[in-house]
Order: sequence, then structure tokens, then C-alpha cells
Amino acid sequence: MPERVTATVDLSALRHNLQRVRQYAPTSRIMGALKADAYGHGTAAVARTLDGELDAYAVACLEEAEAIRSLGCSTPCVLLEGLLHPSEVSTVAARGDCLVLHADWQLDCLQNARVSQPIPVWVKLDTGMNRLGFCPEQAQRLAAAVQAIPSVRLLGWMTHLANADAAEPESTLEQLTRFFAAVEGLPGQRTIANSAGLMAYPQARVDWVRPGIMLYGASPLEGRLARQDDLRPTMRVESRLIAIREVPAGQAVGYGSEWRCAEPTRVGVIAMGYGDGYPRHARSGTPVLVQGQVVSLIGRVSMDMITVDLRACPQAQVGDAATLWGGALPVETVAAHAGTIAYDLFCGLTNRVRYHYQHPD
Ligand SMILES: Cc1ncc(COP(=O)(O)O)c(C=O)c1O
Repeated sequence: MPERVTATVDLSALRHNLQRVRQYAPTSRIMGALKADAYGHGTAAVARTLDGELDAYAVACLEEAEAIRSLGCSTPCVLLEGLLHPSEVSTVAARGDCLVLHADWQLDCLQNARVSQPIPVWVKLDTGMNRLGFCPEQAQRLAAAVQAIPSVRLLGWMTHLANADAAEPESTLEQLTRFFAAVEGLPGQRTIANSAGLMAYPQARVDWVRPGIMLYGASPLEGRLARQDDLRPTMRVESRLIAIREVPAGQAVGYGSEWRCAEPTRVGVIAMGYGDGYPRHARSGTPVLVQGQVVSLIGRVSMDMITVDLRACPQAQVGDAATLWGGALPVETVAAHAGTIAYDLFCGLTNRVRYHYQHPD
């Protein structure tokens, strides 16, 4: 049966992007972010492709770690949000996952835990993100507390950068200064940088780096495209033209009649809408590729369809493939037209989309 919407994931591009991480941070260990179903790419294929290549997988929670382990992957998982509930301690200990420790209630749980093997923990310091983590001034106290708990093994110190993607460096430099001051002289390793951090701040390439989005071939840096930094897109989302109509001048297209034809216009209908994960807020003018040519989204995105202006591609026919993002159409560009980011498009694909995997040779 022909498929409506497909996401083709290029696993050799994933490998290439990992190489790019290594080029940026050749001496760092790599904790690759595989949370949220590997940024919407499919945990199974991504975890299998990168198993043994990465030093750890970063996931949000126990279920995501279990999904990876059930594949038989040997790469250890780090639960970025740590314990979500005290009852998780025994499962974490039994499975051998690493925890991020970011709150005193989690420390209390670990204090009372009975485990056969100490649980490895990264202690997270909040250096300016104001989301998760201990105040950096508490690092000394935490080092002593963690080392005094037999059920825990201190791996080291983590922080997360709030603005590493932005052009202005001040707040990131402040975060780095705060972090380095807090952990100076303390035992354990350090990890600071997400993709933006490791690409833009050499001083953030410490013992471990934690790339996510760059592995999936989208630029983490504001206003840049992945290809400018030799990152290759890993996901191509495609559908088809299912109808073409000639709409007279003055007529409107789609819900709310927001887009009106200034002249007689050949309008194409593509079978992908927000019910598939196409961003509902994509504006008229968002690029779509038909027969390799750029055409523009017009009118509002519907649940199952979008409409495009085919004047730039007069030879288009019903049945032609349309690329919504990926390949020659940067996901960052589409995301920007929808007022969002590539992460959101990747993670937003729904279970209507059929995945295909291109395996490395
Ligand atoms: C703590 C932490 N580290 C690393 C990452 C990876 O970030 P990115 O995908 O921007 O590289 C994330 C993702 O949100 C994160 O929450």
C-alpha cells in the first residue's frame, strides 16, 4: 500500500554527525541525547547504530532507558531528570543506569537505598538556567554528602547552558565561570556542553560533552544551517501531491480564507497536516520541495493537508513527491517559518508517519 507520509532516516548521516562531534571535542567522552524517541528518529534504530560508538546515552526517564536496554544495547544510560519518584531507586540500581542528582529529595532517597551495586550519579549544578540543579555554592557540601553514601558512586559534575545557541556570549561565559569555580578541586569528571555549547565554546569541551540535535543533523546555533558546519540532515519527511486545482484570482484558499490568490493560481494539495506533525503555525511562504523546486505553503495548515502555490513548478502533477523538510530543504528553515525549532518538528511527528531507515554500508 502506498504510504501517505514517510520519514526517511539516514543512519550514515547520524554516524557522520557523530564524527563531527569527535572533531570538535576529540578528547571528550560523548553522552549522546537519545531522549524523546531519539528526537523523533526512532530509539531502536538510533541506539543500535550508535551502540559502542558513544560512551553513554542521555534519556529523560527510566522508561526510555528500558527501551534502549531491551534492544540489547550495552551503552550505559544516564537519566537526565534523575529519580522521578522514590520508588524508582531499586529499579535504577538493578538496571545499572546512571542518575542525575539535582534535588535534596533525591539525595534523601539514595541515602536510604539498599542496593547491591552503588548507583553512579552526576550531580547537577544550576549555574544560570534556573531549571534543574543545586546552587553552585553547595558543591562542597554535596561532594561530601554523596561520597558518604555507600549506595552512590560520584561520577562528577554537570551543568546545562541556557544560551549557548545565541550570538551574545555573556551569559554563557558567566555560567562557565560559575561552574568552574564551583567544582574546582572537587573529585569527579565534568560535563557542560550540549550541541551549541560544544560547537561554540571550546572551553566547554571538558571530560564529557552531551550532543543531541547536532547528531540529528540540525544546527543548534541561532541563524545557522547545519550544512554550514558540515552536519548532514538525518531525517527527510515526504508526502505527495494528491490534488491540483486552478483557483481564480480573488478566491481564498483554506480555513479562515487567510490566503487569497492575487492572480489565477495553480494550487497543489499535499497529504500532510498537523495530524501528522507538520507545524500548525507554519506561515504562508514556508518552503516545500516539489520536483526539487521550492514552492510556498499558502493558507492555513489543516489536520491532514497543506496547500501550496505551484506557480514556481508548473510541471507538477498529482502523485509527485513533496519534501516537507530534510534533503535539500533545511529543517531549520521550515521551523523558522513556523516560529519554532528543528527539535520541535522532529519530536512532533505522529504515529501516522511511516519510518524508513537507510543503513550505513
Ligand atoms: C541536560 C541536557 N544535556 C544535553 C542535551 C542535548 O541538547 P542539544 O540537543 O541541544 O544538543 C539536552 C537536551 O535538551 C539536555 O537536556
